[in-house]
Amino acid sequence: MYRETPQPIHLKDYRPPEFLIDRVELRFELDPECTHVESRLDLRRNPAAPPGGGDLWLDGEELRLTHLAIDGRVLASTEYRVDPRGLTLYQVPDRFTLETQVEIEPSLNTALKGLYQSGDLLCTQCEAENFRRITYFLDRPDVLARYTTTLIADQARFPVLLSNGNPIARAELTDGRHSVTWEDPFPKPSYLFALVAGDLSLIEDRFVTASGREVRLQLFVEPHNRDKGEHALNALKKAMRWDEERFGREYDLDFYMIVAVSHFNMGAMENKGLNIFNDKFVLARPDTATDADFDGIESIIAHEYFHNWTGNRITCRDWFQLSLKEGLTVYRDQEFSSDVGSRAVKRIRDVRALRTHQFAEDAGPLAHPVRPESYIEIDNFYTATVYDKGAELVRMQSALLGPTTFRHATDLYFARHDGQAVTIEDFVRCMEDASGRDLSQFRRWYEQAGTPELFIRGHYDAATWTYTLNVRQETPPTPNQPIKRPLHIPLAIGLLGPDGRESPVWLAGEPEPPAPGTRLLELTEPEQQFVFTGLSERPVPSILRGFSAPVRVHDDLSDADRLFLMAHDRDGFCRWDAAQTLHERLILALVADETHPIPEDYLAAFRHALGDTTADRALLAEMLTLPSETYLGDRMAVIDVEGLHRAHRHLMCELGCRLRTELLAIYDSHAETGPYVFAPEAVGRRALKNLALSYLVYAGDESGLACCRAQFETAHNMTDVMAALGLLVDQGGDEAEAALQSFYRRWTGEPLVIDKWFSVQAKFARPDALERVKALIHHPDYSPHNPNRVRALVGTFAKTNQVCFHAVDGSGYRFLVDQVLELDPINPVLAAQLLKPFERWRRFDAGRQALMRTELERILGREGLSSDVFEVASKALA
Ligand code: PHE
Ligand code: ZN
Repeated sequence: MYRETPQPIHLKDYRPPEFLIDRVELRFELDPECTHVESRLDLRRNPAAPPGGGDLWLDGEELRLTHLAIDGRVLASTEYRVDPRGLTLYQVPDRFTLETQVEIEPSLNTALKGLYQSGDLLCTQCEAENFRRITYFLDRPDVLARYTTTLIADQARFPVLLSNGNPIARAELTDGRHSVTWEDPFPKPSYLFALVAGDLSLIEDRFVTASGREVRLQLFVEPHNRDKGEHALNALKKAMRWDEERFGREYDLDFYMIVAVSHFNMGAMENKGLNIFNDKFVLARPDTATDADFDGIESIIAHEYFHNWTGNRITCRDWFQLSLKEGLTVYRDQEFSSDVGSRAVKRIRDVRALRTHQFAEDAGPLAHPVRPESYIEIDNFYTATVYDKGAELVRMQSALLGPTTFRHATDLYFARHDGQAVTIEDFVRCMEDASGRDLSQFRRWYEQAGTPELFIRGHYDAATWTYTLNVRQETPPTPNQPIKRPLHIPLAIGLLGPDGRESPVWLAGEPEPPAPGTRLLELTEPEQQFVFTGLSERPVPSILRGFSAPVRVHDDLSDADRLFLMAHDRDGFCRWDAAQTLHERLILALVADETHPIPEDYLAAFRHALGDTTADRALLAEMLTLPSETYLGDRMAVIDVEGLHRAHRHLMCELGCRLRTELLAIYDSHAETGPYVFAPEAVGRRALKNLALSYLVYAGDESGLACCRAQFETAHNMTDVMAALGLLVDQGGDEAEAALQSFYRRWTGEPLVIDKWFSVQAKFARPDALERVKALIHHPDYSPHNPNRVRALVGTFAKTNQVCFHAVDGSGYRFLVDQVLELDPINPVLAAQLLKPFERWRRFDAGRQALMRTELERILGREGLSSDVFEVASKALA
């Protein structure tokens, strides 16, 4: 909690640490009420740092210091000073051992930073700057040390005691306590430290690495979740094999441990050898988890595993470099998911998420570059920009280098920087050194915020058989960055002949045409022209294939061109994108004019697609899914909340009516047969079936409704149950209430399923949605102390229920801010996360803007606000 205005930290102020820590010995006497932490640090002056004043600063927060000694000598009170942020030791020697003892209170730690209690467990979360809540330390990622950790706790209450690395000693103590000592042979930054203590049940598997070493894979869950760990372990084994094959990366310890906890602010944490997970991203059984849950688990398990090389073995010099590990690791998990599932579908989902969340961030008051230049609270920078745009930057470099050279470049990165704390610059340098390419202009992507826009015009000249593409790039201004320079943009394109076949993308002046197919153009100028030759007829250009760069494209294609691409493009992403643009234009036309007709050729295209029994089911479902109201709003000059909702509904309803026969046929022919399997084909079938069902129900179709009821009653997998429940709740009435009640009764005792029960009630634009959400805040199962529960109810309401959250009377805004203010003293990270929807506030009409501004000001008027919430609210208003 801050008293004065929190001050930003700047990248330009980075200085190497004055001291290094070679070895750390920790001894914990664990107790939820009062834990004693003893530490012994071997410190020495950093030869690489400019000489300082001789004092040593150590970070430390919320610690009660009980002992302090240098080389065995207890310090007098004149030799140091303690303040709320840390400890200053006056005039220390060049090399010494520091002993400290502190006390901390895990059971009162509701912020879930440092050592905290989750149910009956004790666990830690140290990224980014929370190790300082455990002991006094140089809590910065460029200080790498070897850790030995002894955990002591009551044996009955905490039979399992875990920390990083390998267990090297165990002992039973006489007072009912026991101890386990762990040693981590790899030097690591403090943010990767972890410990877990509790009564956990072990599910064990094994993996033999490429070089023949056996690794024990240990998944720890609370005993009643033993039957929900198989999927996560399988995902882990797949990820380990994939990283060996694709990146040549082998695992390096004898144990790989994963612990599932039910209180966690984020998705999961890559602590060395001991990942700690939000249990939502570990636990799954067909009847408790949806396909989306299974999918999320697979990719997050992989993500944390991949961090072992990109994050842990090679870490970040400072937190401005966060995307060095996160962008690269997201890129790696995306590639993994593409290889084990469907590449096109994965790409489509990632692009949809990027356009919805990251583009909005780039267009809002908190826009920041992938490598930010300043921050107040680093917890606020685990953003879509750092993660997902960061991954796009890695993807673009891999496209520019090509697969073989990119692999050489990553090999070089791993070889050159293993064991170091490095910068994004070091990564890009490896890309350059391995390829001989000059990426100086490309580096601007890391420095410039904002989504570049491409304006593309095509012209066919029948006389010369040439097709000319004119491409102009422009990046809009963002806070503190009024002027943008042109970027180096890889633009993948194809040219389709009238028969739908690929033409060679042959640049005028080249002696011979290349083989037909995709070609990567490179944009570097504000405006560029490409002349393609050898085209006897006007081609239809397939632009930004595979979404080759995170940009917005404004082209001059006609609806007919888009229908053509939708039917013929070999690039799955472009087929989907063509369909999305058609949906989008139609919905926006309907917002402007409710009577706008639904074009027959549009309907015919979808009728045709639905009839194509050979097409990939998942891809078809993606094509038929309308863009969300949130995304569509971002495409309007001023967001018309009600108009969009009406138009969206209207189109769903029309599609349901006009394609009824085809949709019913899909529903009937895609019924579940046999037991649930999580495999791309089966997931795609369920997605398409449930999409068909939703159109039918929105159209008020009686047989659709009957199918929906039956599905809710009889389905054995959570994907189908939730699809039906959502539709019933959206319809409202007694049937919805009855369904909710039976669902609740069936699933009490499964918190992750109860989260779904909360969120399904917050999601839909029912007139009573806000009243219902407010009532649910008082439900005995609701708790502000469990982030998953808060996000399920409050987060879902503010993020997905556009109509009710943006109610004209401001009731939705008031409700959210009441919740944020109540949560802030409990859990500032979570409180700040919930404020995300307010970042769009300037995109609405004057009335709503005024209401949102008032609420943001109300936040800033609160005394004792956390720096997390202060940063978001104050920057939103700036
Ligand atoms: N480093 C984690 C990841 O992306 C995310 C995280 C950040 C978790 C901060 C907790 C706290 O894998
Ligand atoms: Zn990560």
